[in-house]
Amino acid sequence: MLRTNTCGELRISDVGKKVKLNGWVQRVRDKGALVWIDLRDRYGITQIFGEEGVTDKELLNQMKELGREFVISVEGEVAERFSKNDKIPTGDIELKIEKLEVLNESKVPPFKIENETDGGEDLRMKYRYLDLRRDVVRSSLQIRHRMAKSVRDYLDHQEFIEVETPVLIKSTPEGARDFLVPSRMNPGEFYALPQSPQTFKQILMVAGFDRYFQLVKCFRDEDLRADRQPEFTQIDCEMSFVEREDILQTFEGLAKYLFKEVKGIEVEDFPRMEYADAMSLYGSDKPDIRFEMTFKDLNEVAKGKGFKVFDDSEAVLGICVKGCAEYTRKQLDEITNWVKRPQIGAKGLVYVKCNADGSYKSSVDKFFNQDDLKAWAEVSGAEANDLLLVLSGDLKKTRKALGELRLEMGSRLGLRDKNVFKPLWVVNFPLLEWDEESERFHAMHHPFTSPIPEDLKKLETEPGEVRANAYDMVINGVEIGGGSIRIHNRDVQSRMFDALGFTKEEAQAQFGFLLEAFEYGAPPHGGIAFGFDRLCSLFGGSDSIRDFIAFPKNTSGRDVMIDSPSPASLEQLKELGIKLFEEK
Ligand code: AMO
Repeated sequence: MLRTNTCGELRISDVGKKVKLNGWVQRVRDKGALVWIDLRDRYGITQIFGEEGVTDKELLNQMKELGREFVISVEGEVAERFSKNDKIPTGDIELKIEKLEVLNESKVPPFKIENETDGGEDLRMKYRYLDLRRDVVRSSLQIRHRMAKSVRDYLDHQEFIEVETPVLIKSTPEGARDFLVPSRMNPGEFYALPQSPQTFKQILMVAGFDRYFQLVKCFRDEDLRADRQPEFTQIDCEMSFVEREDILQTFEGLAKYLFKEVKGIEVEDFPRMEYADAMSLYGSDKPDIRFEMTFKDLNEVAKGKGFKVFDDSEAVLGICVKGCAEYTRKQLDEITNWVKRPQIGAKGLVYVKCNADGSYKSSVDKFFNQDDLKAWAEVSGAEANDLLLVLSGDLKKTRKALGELRLEMGSRLGLRDKNVFKPLWVVNFPLLEWDEESERFHAMHHPFTSPIPEDLKKLETEPGEVRANAYDMVINGVEIGGGSIRIHNRDVQSRMFDALGFTKEEAQAQFGFLLEAFEYGAPPHGGIAFGFDRLCSLFGGSDSIRDFIAFPKNTSGRDVMIDSPSPASLEQLKELGIKLFEEK
């Protein structure tokens, strides 16, 4: 071994020991007669000390010449420090240097390798190996490791088997764009990278595996956001001979186990919320229930008083912001401008201040008298000192905008504490979603999702009303996972394809293999998949999943370290039978 200990290991009880440490030079402090080095490895930082008159002169000079990020090996004796550092676990001791060997030199790094760095995102991604040396980044990946280990422990204990499914496959039914891979041996034909292992895991149920899971890479060619990457990891699971309740219990158990193991937190049983309620109370299918501020329907009390904006609106909805009646004109203008940004899309904002003296002051005093405003306050549960914020317009858009405003106000008021975790299940999503562009229904989840049995009769007559036996796990406003009970009955599957406007031939061409498998004894089954990167970032208290992926893509889907994607050579394309442009 090149070392006897790591840089995070030595304590006061080791004083007097002769040790050898390896690591990277974080910092050299040269005070002439005294020299200190902060030596860093994955485990921590240990201070190395040299002193004129005690340390060999040449060795002291050698210490002074070290550059940042040089890789060195040092030998010496552990000693108690004169001035201790209680911020690090090794802060009581230092190593009195006796020998130093430079194992490798380093160029000057382009940014500071410290928790508070001066490197911008692009620079850090280009030199990701340097970024990964930073404690904060490395510890995020350690959380990820701990999570993966705990997931495997829990599921193994519950008799789940991890099975790997292929990466070169055929289009899967998740509804994003596929990444395609040309096949050299089959010119003009393409594999698709899996958006999820959905069809394979259902086939594993037909094969009798009973309980399957996989920590698996999925690929989706969609626009990126903080919580989306083109390649991401799912904890993908499927179970046979179960009903929805079994699945919810099993995976609520998994989430609770992770909270306990990784964060040492006991979470209570997850509440269940109907999709329809989530939309009408929070304007979102992934409500953040760390705080109240639910929507209040003001249609009854706000319409018919001559205010055209409201009278012409499908919906007038408000939220009550507790204790904010004192907001200044400037603050209210700023919130108004915030909701009018194109990302939020509201046309305007109406406010009512519920003053401490019981009077009301609103932005629409011309149209509404004190009694009217009192009625609004009553409907909204607003009391003295509260502020009502009201949006109106088309129901869908108003819900969405007010949902965003609710989250924004929650953040401003400090109601979204990263250390508080409020999970819930959102259940009974609509089975189908009307797509304006293609003018037909799409599966909201995927075409194998089972309808709620009592709604099945409406599949042909009121397809938009049919609820799916589907569920999402939502934590702190993030969709962590989603799944469903699957259709295992041929007749229902074929009615589902009809509702989606698939011809028999289309269904056969895309999913023939699965439909055929289902003819050989498919058990009742269902499952769920979690966004593993999202789960890790939630546990690590970050909004961006990139921090929890060792080598993520940037917002343009590029890996700037390896510079990918990159053009292919003409020879490569020719071999694959791909012509970039039609020859004239
Ligand atoms: P779904 O499409 O809901 O379901 O995906 C499951 C979970 O994966 C996460 N996720 C993502 N994470 C990061 N980047 C992305 N681009 C991304 N897309 C999705 C989300 C989501 O909840 N086969 C079904 C599951 C099933 O029915 O069993 C599926 O893939 O956290």
